[in-house]
Amino acid sequence: MSSTRETFLRDSEAPGTQASNVSRQWSFYNPVQVTFGGGALSRISELVDGRRYVLVTYGDPHFREIAARVIASAGEPLVVIDDVSPNPSFVSLATSCALLGFPAESPEAIVALGGGSVIDTAKVLSASSGDFERVRRYLVDHEGEEALGSVPIIAIPTTAGTGSEVTCWASVWDTGAGRKYSLSRPNLYPEHALVDPELTLGMPRMLTVSTALDALSHSLESIWNVNANPVSTNFAVLAASEILEVLPPLATDLASLAMRSRMATAALLAGLAFSNTRTALAHSLSYPITLQYGVPHGLACSFSLPMLLRAVIGQDGECDEGLRRIFGEDLLAGVVRLTDFLTDLGVSVLAEDHGVPRDVFCDLITAAYAGERGRNFIGPKDLVLVAEEQQWAALSRPGDDAGRSDSTTPPANRRSK
Ligand SMILES: [Fe+2]
Repeated sequence: MSSTRETFLRDSEAPGTQASNVSRQWSFYNPVQVTFGGGALSRISELVDGRRYVLVTYGDPHFREIAARVIASAGEPLVVIDDVSPNPSFVSLATSCALLGFPAESPEAIVALGGGSVIDTAKVLSASSGDFERVRRYLVDHEGEEALGSVPIIAIPTTAGTGSEVTCWASVWDTGAGRKYSLSRPNLYPEHALVDPELTLGMPRMLTVSTALDALSHSLESIWNVNANPVSTNFAVLAASEILEVLPPLATDLASLAMRSRMATAALLAGLAFSNTRTALAHSLSYPITLQYGVPHGLACSFSLPMLLRAVIGQDGECDEGLRRIFGEDLLAGVVRLTDFLTDLGVSVLAEDHGVPRDVFCDLITAAYAGERGRNFIGPKDLVLVAEEQQWAALSRPGDDAGRSDSTTPPANRRSK
């Protein structure tokens, strides 16, 4: 028998809206111990607690300085792996794993100091036990799970966006074959996430914006997701609302520790949200755009968000409710707001402006639905393609205000700044 709330929601839904999921079962789990705040890095000695550890970081002077503080506090590591590259590939990971295998004594912990690529590399190192072939075999051949190891990870993010410090998976790129894999195992949740907003102060504008947009994508993607639940949606609503409010002023005041702190909190909340849902179509769509067109992950997974928001309106009562908490009652107006938000940050919402021809982009949308993440999206493909058409028409024709708030602005000026 239906509950009163269930009946109310069903009766109040707009025509075409799917039945609400109020009675379905759901669960939420995240085991990562989080320490947040300015100066949190000072806890590293206590967290390493005398264990033999490996330090994974970047090699430039900014990170060497922070790494020196870690070492001064936690002691000398077994080895420092500091040649991590963006979007860690099979080739670079094999080299890093070989370094991990070199010490005579095996590590008891891995300290990951850096952005998503560093934390993802640490997860691969943790699983590899110094032999990347074990990870490659598991990812490509779906064999050898019993050979994978697990070394506890202490994650210290230096960007605000990836969320990798609270998830149990890592993105691994086979650039030679043009494929992206996800190494996902429950024992890859970091043991501890040390989130110190002061560490994000040195980030340049482009990295600040792109990583924040990655977090915005994580939050929205966890709402329009078949795995969404009230806890994940609540985290996501808080995260997205905060990012929409704080990113524009932060982008012009990069030295503001107060705004850096708010962004770090939002990115953490977005990470907690999608740690339980994973991402959806925007991410599935982004991987070939990053691989084939070199668009940074945070931009590749966010410029399609207005299109997907337009497509998902009315598809699910709980999803609509979550999105209204972010964008207000009129979700079509939310599409305009999101479009303007991205455009004003210098991020065009048109694929062509990112170097992806329109016909290719439409083919990629179709292909993205076949991906594991694409299947998490609750909106149907035909509505996404209609939304793409509407968006393209609105932003390519002066005088049409369906997709922007200022219809008098010439299209060329609406695109990438
Ligand atoms: Fe992402």
